[in-house]
Amino acid sequence: MAAGQGKRMRSQLPKVLHPVVFRPMLHYVVERALELPHGLIGVVVGHGADEVRAACTEYPMLQFIHQAEQLGTGHAILQAQSLLGGRRGQVLVLSGDVILLKAETLRQLVETKGESTAAVVVTTRLSEPKGYGRIIRGAGNHVVAIREELDCNDAERKINEINSGVYLFDTEKLYAALDRVTSANAQKEYYLTDVVREMHKAGDRVEALEVKDSSEVLGINDQLGLHAVEKVIQRRINDAWMAAGVSFEDPESTWIDDRTQFSSEVRVEGNCRFIDAKIASRVNIESGCRIVRSSVGHGSSIKQGSYLTDSSVGSETSVGPYAHLRPKSHLGSHVKIGNFVEIKNATFADHAKASHLSYIGDATIGPNANLGCGFITCNYDGGLQKHHTTIGENVFVGSDSQMVAPVEVGAGSYVASGSTVTEDVPPDSLVISRGRQVTKPGYASKYRRGK
Ligand code: UD1
Ligand code: MG
Repeated sequence: MAAGQGKRMRSQLPKVLHPVVFRPMLHYVVERALELPHGLIGVVVGHGADEVRAACTEYPMLQFIHQAEQLGTGHAILQAQSLLGGRRGQVLVLSGDVILLKAETLRQLVETKGESTAAVVVTTRLSEPKGYGRIIRGAGNHVVAIREELDCNDAERKINEINSGVYLFDTEKLYAALDRVTSANAQKEYYLTDVVREMHKAGDRVEALEVKDSSEVLGINDQLGLHAVEKVIQRRINDAWMAAGVSFEDPESTWIDDRTQFSSEVRVEGNCRFIDAKIASRVNIESGCRIVRSSVGHGSSIKQGSYLTDSSVGSETSVGPYAHLRPKSHLGSHVKIGNFVEIKNATFADHAKASHLSYIGDATIGPNANLGCGFITCNYDGGLQKHHTTIGENVFVGSDSQMVAPVEVGAGSYVASGSTVTEDVPPDSLVISRGRQVTKPGYASKYRRGK
């Protein structure tokens, strides 16, 4: 169920698309569903339906069900009747905002439900059950109803066993019961939770699967809830990496998505972010780095405040502090990229260097080339195109030089400091392209006297 607006989030973004550790909330639920044996997986969408669908393109197996008006969770499941109706068997209902359930719990849920049981609801006990539906148990400890908080009397409100919003139903019995559900309640909605009462009335059995770790069933209804859930995921991910040998200076301030991979003996300082990153062994990452869809090779060092996107760093290479690798930056081994260097769509071969204050865009830098301080590729012609710069093997470029692309400097050449290179340079050359210096001895004191 992912059709609700999530009014309590106070945001234009559909609730299920709010990012949780860099992924839309809904992805966590879909991943869980995919892990279980299934015939089909349907997603009920409504509020921001197009956006929600667009955020799920990586899951082409999903079938979307449109709930034009969000009249309640019962109404949401009713919209899926055309998809499920006539099918026998079981339907697992997951809420788009309950994302921490472990795969083992869901597997247990599937195993718990006997043939004669119409439904199993996942529950937990909370010292502060505020905001959740309460579980009403009857004779034989069976669940006889779920009462939404706004419909509870004083005694019911004190019940601390709550509904997680996750259920396993017998499909036929679910739709038979939903037929009898009305919107006669405090919120004038069709509650899915009311099917429990209807099943009980019809003589069908409803059971509860009570989970002990109540953090598994935290629902995300507002920004505070989102933060609480995000911290649980952060801890799960970081704890697993620490168990695998990754060393974090400050795991509380380190955020890693569930696609990132680390090898052994990686050291990470505080305040770093990793999104779909691949970090090889013996890598050291200093504080405040952000590494997005990029890989870092064995023994390399990413220094403070560096930002890498869609790039790769070879082994024994040093990047930063404060370096920016924009998309398609590929560094070889033993490369040195120093402070305030920005690279985009460029390749550095092994042992190449750009140690200070540079912009290198659309370029191929040969092995062992040394780009001096303030080197700039002038790659953009201001309107039409980006142009390429090629620097050959062993080229030495003096400080404060610019390459007006397209241009190529042949292997082994020297580019004198302060040059603006506009034409290709053959290998083994010296190029000087700057105004000649004029020096007038004794001029300064004459000038001052004249004033
Ligand atoms: C729901 C349960 C409550 C439970 C809680 C657990 C009902 C009536 N109440 O309350 O017992 O304790 O979850 O977190 O089910 N949705 C739709 N269409 C709709 C309404 C909602 O798809 O018309 C979706 C929402 O996008 C959301 C999920 O269903 O993903 C739950 O809706 P929400 O409004 O968050 O219900 P709660 O108030 O949390
Ligand atoms: Mg909710």
